[in-house]
Amino acid sequence: MGIHFSGEYAVHHGDCITHMATLPDACMDFSVFSPPFPALYSYTSSPADIGNSENLKHEAKLHLSFFYKQIARLIKPGRAMVVHVMQIPRMKRSGEAGLFDFRGLNIKLGERAGLVYEYDWLVRKNPQAQAIRTKSRELQFSGLESDRSKQRGTLGDYLIKFRAPGDNATPINSPDQVSRNAWIDWAECCWMDIRETDTLNVSEGRGVDDVKHICPLQLSVIDRLVRLYSNPGELVFSPFTGIGSEGYVSVKLGRRFYGCELKDEYYAAAIKNLERAQGERSAASDALLFAGGAA
Ligand SMILES: C[S@@+](CC[C@H](N)C(=O)[O-])C[C@H]1O[C@@H](n2cnc3c(N)ncnc32)[C@H](O)[C@@H]1O
Repeated sequence: MGIHFSGEYAVHHGDCITHMATLPDACMDFSVFSPPFPALYSYTSSPADIGNSENLKHEAKLHLSFFYKQIARLIKPGRAMVVHVMQIPRMKRSGEAGLFDFRGLNIKLGERAGLVYEYDWLVRKNPQAQAIRTKSRELQFSGLESDRSKQRGTLGDYLIKFRAPGDNATPINSPDQVSRNAWIDWAECCWMDIRETDTLNVSEGRGVDDVKHICPLQLSVIDRLVRLYSNPGELVFSPFTGIGSEGYVSVKLGRRFYGCELKDEYYAAAIKNLERAQGERSAASDALLFAGGAA
């Protein structure tokens, strides 16, 4: 456990909740992350791994409420934070049915910690791919033809936008980050054009005894959010770094990155991906320099 610093990034290897308590107030310009989805994916056997919390109403809620209290303190006044979540199917093995409103829980805990809930985008998911991957009876043709009472559509991803209270001291207005044409597309309430496979390579971070695997955030989603909510040179934070997707995009876009990751294999994969981002970024700057421009 410890912190790995290199060039434009630093990653803490360990529990983010206790680590965040050691960081100063208002030190982050922007944060984007996917919290562990409790009861759905467990990443490690550590009790600090929120993915191990089977009890969504109590244990997971408690972990996340400590988490939100800390992160609300770290975001600079007036700056944004985007949380990527999905609704969680309740487990049949514990005799439950329907969905757990994980989106609602995150909004409630964020507001309780003092953040302002401003918006959420929906990211489209492919129905066929989800039906095959999750084997959800609610999506299958068999349910459609036998009894439609339980049929429902695909579960999309939500990008919940919060803002820290107070005035933003440094406007986010650096040119060449978001064109008017891009904004016409990005202002849509549902992002239909995100390719689900546009992610970093998952297999690099797989542990020997993993039964479930990480669900990395799409690079194109991160690219939009980092361009929208930070200026070049600013510090982007992902407390649940995983294999480093948020960091990879941030560094490639000329931002600095700070992360935390509990699981050894993901931590190692994140460092590898962040080093690659730094290499690709400096190769791109060199190429521009030779072409007579600036990065
Ligand atoms: C949904 S994944 C994040 C994936 C990441 N967005 C990516 O694209 O690679 C959640 C991550 O949180 C990590 N995690 C769970 N509990 C944690 C904790 N208390 N502190 C730090 N990391 C934790 C898990 O090991 C997992 O890698």
